[in-house]
Amino acid sequence: MLNKASSVIPPAPPVHPKDLPALRFLFGSIRNSLAIWPDYSFDIAFNRHTLFGVESALVNDPGGVRHMMTTNAANYVRPAMLPRILRPLIGKGVFLAEASEWRRQRRLLSPSFTPHHVSILLPHFIAAAADLVRQFERQSSVDLSAAYQTAALNAVLRSLFSMPSQEERDRLGNLVRRYMTGPGRPQIFDAFAASETSFAFALGGRRAFQKRWFAAVDAVVAARRGATHDTNHRDLLDLLMAARDPDTGEQLSADEIRDQCATMIFAGFETTSRLLFWASYLLTLDPGEQARLRDEIASFPPERVTTLDDLGHWPRLRLVLLEALRLYPPVPIMIREPVEDDVIMGEPVRRGTQVYVAPWVLHRHRKHWQHPTAFMPDRFAGKPSPWTAGGAYLPFGAGPRICIGAVFALAEAQIMLATLLQRYTIATESKRPVMPVGRLTILPSYAPMFRVERAPS
Ligand code: HEM
Repeated sequence: MLNKASSVIPPAPPVHPKDLPALRFLFGSIRNSLAIWPDYSFDIAFNRHTLFGVESALVNDPGGVRHMMTTNAANYVRPAMLPRILRPLIGKGVFLAEASEWRRQRRLLSPSFTPHHVSILLPHFIAAAADLVRQFERQSSVDLSAAYQTAALNAVLRSLFSMPSQEERDRLGNLVRRYMTGPGRPQIFDAFAASETSFAFALGGRRAFQKRWFAAVDAVVAARRGATHDTNHRDLLDLLMAARDPDTGEQLSADEIRDQCATMIFAGFETTSRLLFWASYLLTLDPGEQARLRDEIASFPPERVTTLDDLGHWPRLRLVLLEALRLYPPVPIMIREPVEDDVIMGEPVRRGTQVYVAPWVLHRHRKHWQHPTAFMPDRFAGKPSPWTAGGAYLPFGAGPRICIGAVFALAEAQIMLATLLQRYTIATESKRPVMPVGRLTILPSYAPMFRVERAPS
């Protein structure tokens, strides 16, 4: 039984007493998809909605999620809205592939993300964490949201390309960031698009970006191909270039390698930087928990980490990250469309319906969680990988399309936070609450400044 008495209740948008009127719901879901839910959503297992002729369903129960994301996953595809926004950034990479093409790509990529291979990437995470904390020697007032974005990009670019040049990393990073805050922001046309190319007039900025972005990633890959063979490269690009389909022996083409690299940059940096931000924010709300983590890290300092198993010395840090992923899941909503009519938990769901699985709602569901709005890392004690349990915890998705980078992300986040907390205490400078805002990921409502001060040794 969890004891709520001294628990922190971190900020969340207000829950509405009943359904919002149609237009408020529509614009609300573009502005902040976390602020549209009526109170009853946190009690029910299934709900349906029709908005301006578009049918949607919320699947809000572990059994229903298992049905659509595992048992009958082959019947569900990503709706047109997603490739409209993401194709310019990630091309034909695994995230947007479907059916047999997806199976082929996933088979080729999976061996590169085993714990053994993630262990090989640890030096890249350690180098990125060292870059992160170096800046705190010069300044004690820091925009941690921006710092984590830079650090997570740094970690993924180092892991992919062993890219030591800060200038090169900034160039690629700035391109991605400008896309996400510019042409890549979801628009009203995306919600109503019947196909990837509908409302073509709204896609010009995205196409122009795609040309520049693909040329930039192609140039990095080409430089590596042209380099004299260096057997010391120990990064994801090496693994992707060497990957072979276990059935056919086939390799990834140059365009495919480019698209997979772009996919990993996008999928890996935005999500992990949000996890780092929200975990840090929670620790400012609960200084006792922050102190406990610092003690744990002192007993096994990050400089001693050489293998993935070493991260097992920080069990409390893992619990805090798992709880941060529950309260602020970086991917707050996943959407699918059934290719054929289906029945989910006894409810008929017609072909083309937009089916939502919302970790934001399911992670705060009153039937599945004790004290769902409270920050209580202990709820995960004894459950080191709860996302594999097929329950109500889905920060990495579920079924065959579950996040390929979960081990990568958690290892990176553990190393970043341990390196920071080993040396510094963190607190927000203002008491103004930071509200979560649901877009593609969960953003902070504003970028709070953090006081980062030397921890007493
Ligand atoms: C805290 C960090 C992360 C979170 C919360 C996260 C979450 C997710 C979720 C929820 C999905 C499934 C989306 C869906 O089914 O619609 C997903 C898929 C994916 N993620 Fe992650 N992710 C994280 C980090 C990473 C990293 C570090 C990488 C790679 C370096 C990565 C690569 C991918 C890829 C390639 C897919 C698509 C898999 C497929 O469709 O087969 N992710 N992620």
